[in-house]
Amino acid sequence: MKFGKIALAFAVVSIFGASAIGFAAEKDPLAPRVPADDMEEAKEWKNPKKSTAANIAKGKALFTGKATCFTCHGNEGRGDGVAGAALDPSPRNFHNPGLKKKTDGEFFYVISNGIEGTGMISYAPGIITEEEAALIITYERSLHDKK
Ligand code: HEC
Repeated sequence: MKFGKIALAFAVVSIFGASAIGFAAEKDPLAPRVPADDMEEAKEWKNPKKSTAANIAKGKALFTGKATCFTCHGNEGRGDGVAGAALDPSPRNFHNPGLKKKTDGEFFYVISNGIEGTGMISYAPGIITEEEAALIITYERSLHDKK
């Protein structure tokens, strides 16, 4: 009887312990994050920066530096940055081919407005400029097909 209680206490502690150090699941990454009412407008935003090697490199430098995206999304954009470990839902892993169905405009909307109720806050234009966000988006999109 007493042993049963101790075993139960251990089980509870290990479940909570595991969730405190492990990563929460990514929440349906392919579902839209732009509210339905804003979707049409969001999709109208076209990326002024072309997906060239030079722009992708500039975007990566911002993502892994000044813009601080890496702290949650990880240096390689796999959603495994140290600050993301405590977040539920966990940060987006950009190495997901399914994300190609989302538009640059949807990413820009999220970077501008954040995602309510999550760790993803608004970055542009408060923390980064629209031009910097555009460059970062070329980098994020370059990852969808990478293993
Ligand atoms: C404090 C942690 C944190 C930081 C820093 C952060 N993000 Fe996020 N981001 C998140 C989380 C968490 C999600 C996923 C939320 C969800 O699933 O609804 C997310 C999701 C996203 C998405 C996915 C949108 C979609 O439709 O799937 C984009 C794009 C994004 N972030 C871009 C950025 C960029 C660019 C930066 C840097 C300027 C950045 N994030 C910095 C936590 C962060």
